[in-house]
Amino acid sequence: MKDYSLTQVECEWTQQLNRWVETFRPYSTEGKCATYIPALAEANPEHLGICVASEGGQALKAGEWNVPFTMQSISKAISFMAACSIHGIEQVMERVDVEPTGDAFNSIVRLEAHKPGKPFNPMINAGAITVTSLLPGKNAIEKLEPVIDLLEDILDYRPPLNESVFKSEWETAYLNRSLAYYLKQNGVLASPVEEALEAYSRQCSIQITAEDLAKIGLVLANDGLHPYKGTQVVPRKITKITKALMLTCGTYNASGRLAAFVGVPTKSGVAGGILSAIPPRGRNNGPFSHGCGIGIYGPAIDEVGNSVSGILLLKEMVEQWDLNIF
Ligand code: DON
Repeated sequence: MKDYSLTQVECEWTQQLNRWVETFRPYSTEGKCATYIPALAEANPEHLGICVASEGGQALKAGEWNVPFTMQSISKAISFMAACSIHGIEQVMERVDVEPTGDAFNSIVRLEAHKPGKPFNPMINAGAITVTSLLPGKNAIEKLEPVIDLLEDILDYRPPLNESVFKSEWETAYLNRSLAYYLKQNGVLASPVEEALEAYSRQCSIQITAEDLAKIGLVLANDGLHPYKGTQVVPRKITKITKALMLTCGTYNASGRLAAFVGVPTKSGVAGGILSAIPPRGRNNGPFSHGCGIGIYGPAIDEVGNSVSGILLLKEMVEQWDLNIF
């Protein structure tokens, strides 16, 4: 199987990234590694890494850009694209909406408060479990295949599952079980409850690096066209909806703040990953005016679930390099 790495570019921009990484690394003490999934607590909270991938196959990398971690909620963007590619957007939207909530990622409150109990969007747990229930396959392992297949199309390798994180999440997924049984009662889930839950927990445990996230971000920035292979790996329309959902719902109940004060489509996960996609912009000749994908890893997260030092690093870079999409 072909494995391609991005070419590391040593330039003034890389030096700048290294300086920012060291500036923001100390802020990790303002957060902590997730503990509700016990295996995630084993990460080193001081880690901070970034990879920025550009269309020509070059990348800027700094800090712990190659430390592996689990996708967690970032996988929600991938399973959404897989489900829409297989079933079409309309069929997916029959079961899940595209409205932000302002609630925590695992909140159950709106499923009862709003009728019918359809999840508000695919980036919260209720919506993601629903999307995963739609994936084809007779069991959880088969349901995971379209997600890994799509990642392989983008990354050119099949990312592995971190079994100990999966086991840890699976044994403690009480809230997700409540959400899934509630969804089943309301006729929203398209598969047996435990099958959807297991596939969802497995997709969250897919192990990647910041470099992998940057490649995914670059494909999204390019509207689904793989920049190195020249193939359309996700239909254009689906990537546009995914980026809109990342912007409006991708960082949970901090999504509004992120849109206002950072201004780039971003999806985060509780293991500390951040995925951003910067489409090409015509207004300047600064860094990455042809667009880029950004992957960040910083496992110390805030109370909402976003990497503390990672978000600060993203904000600084976006401001200094004028990457805000607005
Ligand atoms: O559902 C869960 O609890 C996790 N596997 C994923 C949550 C997540 O990443 C939300 N984060 N910010």
